[in-house]
Amino acid sequence: MSSSVVDAVELELAEPYLREVLGSVGLDVEYVRAAGNSLFFIDSGGAEVEVLDLACGFGSLILGHHHPAVVQRAKELLDAQIPVHAQFSRHPYANELAGVLNRILTREFGESEPYSAIFGNSGAEAVEISIKHAELDRGIRVAEAVAEVEAGLNEAAAAAAAGARIDAAVFAAAGLPVSAGFDAVASAITERNAALAARGPVFLALHGGFHGKLVGSIQLTHNEGYRTPFTRLASRCRFVTVGDVIGLWQIVEEERQVLHGLTVTDGAVRLTERDLPVFGGFFVEPIQGEAGIRVLPAEFGTEIGKVCEHTGAPLIMDEIQSGMGRSGAFFASSKIGLRGDYILLAKSLGGGVAKNAVMLVRGERYRRDFELVHSSTFAKDAFSCHIGLKVLELLEADGGAAYRKAAERGATLRSRIEAIRDDFKDVVLEIRGDGLMLGFEFQDQSTSASAKIAETAQAGFFGFAVAGYALRTHRLRLFQTASAMNTFRLEPSIDLTDAEIDRIEAGLRDICSLLRAGDGDRLLGTA
Ligand SMILES: Cc1ncc(COP(=O)(O)O)c(C=O)c1O
Repeated sequence: MSSSVVDAVELELAEPYLREVLGSVGLDVEYVRAAGNSLFFIDSGGAEVEVLDLACGFGSLILGHHHPAVVQRAKELLDAQIPVHAQFSRHPYANELAGVLNRILTREFGESEPYSAIFGNSGAEAVEISIKHAELDRGIRVAEAVAEVEAGLNEAAAAAAAGARIDAAVFAAAGLPVSAGFDAVASAITERNAALAARGPVFLALHGGFHGKLVGSIQLTHNEGYRTPFTRLASRCRFVTVGDVIGLWQIVEEERQVLHGLTVTDGAVRLTERDLPVFGGFFVEPIQGEAGIRVLPAEFGTEIGKVCEHTGAPLIMDEIQSGMGRSGAFFASSKIGLRGDYILLAKSLGGGVAKNAVMLVRGERYRRDFELVHSSTFAKDAFSCHIGLKVLELLEADGGAAYRKAAERGATLRSRIEAIRDDFKDVVLEIRGDGLMLGFEFQDQSTSASAKIAETAQAGFFGFAVAGYALRTHRLRLFQTASAMNTFRLEPSIDLTDAEIDRIEAGLRDICSLLRAGDGDRLLGTA
């Protein structure tokens, strides 16, 4: 190796600041092996140390790390030299994957309308694909609306030329005096309509929601720290508080825009109004992950459905974290009976070994022209699709035993951590979630009797401090959610064992005791 390459390797270039933050609490561990719910590192004595992983790829490992059947399939695919790159050719495996997803959709929602599939590589990419597709669709609907009112203008022009009276409201709407005449009023209306039609969409999303961190998707992610430095780059999003029905409809009203048109009735030219499709889409997680694992209440889901119906906004169901069986159903949204016009999947669709994502969009909404204007080099490749098919085969086997397992393991784990909450009400605020998507929320520690714990919490590092302690002391990989720093995610695989549940309980009980005692030295490793 040349000396310049060696020098470069010695420099810390790949996110050194993040490494520093992780290192400050002992989280900058290099894992060298992974299997099931475990990650392994090599300690200073050269021994392999096992860590129970409850983050599991931020919910990407419904089957665990390196599930033997998935690994076996991956080896077979590589040994068979399947063409990973064969863009612009037939991809029957992608079709098959979409077909199996459709079968599951039909079973869980009881509707047989087919969903078309556009594949991608990551969750945020699936979100961005849906943003683009929804905007292509909205653009066409906007153009249709404009064409419709323009047709009315032509008819009114003919009537005006023949001497029809022009209603005063027409001039008022155009902001012109009655003396202005028909041509001036018609061009003012046309200009106004064109200006409205040229506006970008407004998206709707929920408070606390997380939909990724790329240019478009970050604007749908509620966390201000992630979002606001980049608001100038993308379309506007209005955030709705979960449960606030009045606020939701108020936003709908505030954003409403109407195109003006003209019609001829009773011999007079009169003003008409036609709603413009302003909403790009309503993004919803049926179980909010990064907001601290919060299940969407079914009644509020129904209200969201009504808003989408009323406004024509597509309901874009982000199942990137909640989907693939984690909730005990393949689609968590099926449990609240809220079928998205779009459904997004990623994470576990890659089986822990591939990068895979898909946007599903129901037939009635699908714009096939999208296929000619959108693509990604790596998307829809044979390797990821075959791995996705293997994951679905494993989840669907034995009449959906995997979903029952997710529900049962989740319920068992939940009852154990609820018992901790009952014993430590001064320290634990709430247990939330469904199936194997559980959240363990600590009480805010910023006023802890321990100055060290309080300062750490005030600085926003409580989560990392707990994660560091859990790793050092209990060999547990436990992380806070991205936007709710006091909530720890428990998202293990369906193969979670009773012994692993015992370890989780023991670790969490110890952390609670330490917080109750205000033992900042032990938490922060300074004792
Ligand atoms: C609900 C949801 N949507 C989108 C994303 C973004 O996925 P990715 O990190 O693969 O871009 C995530 C990631 O955690 C997520 O939980």
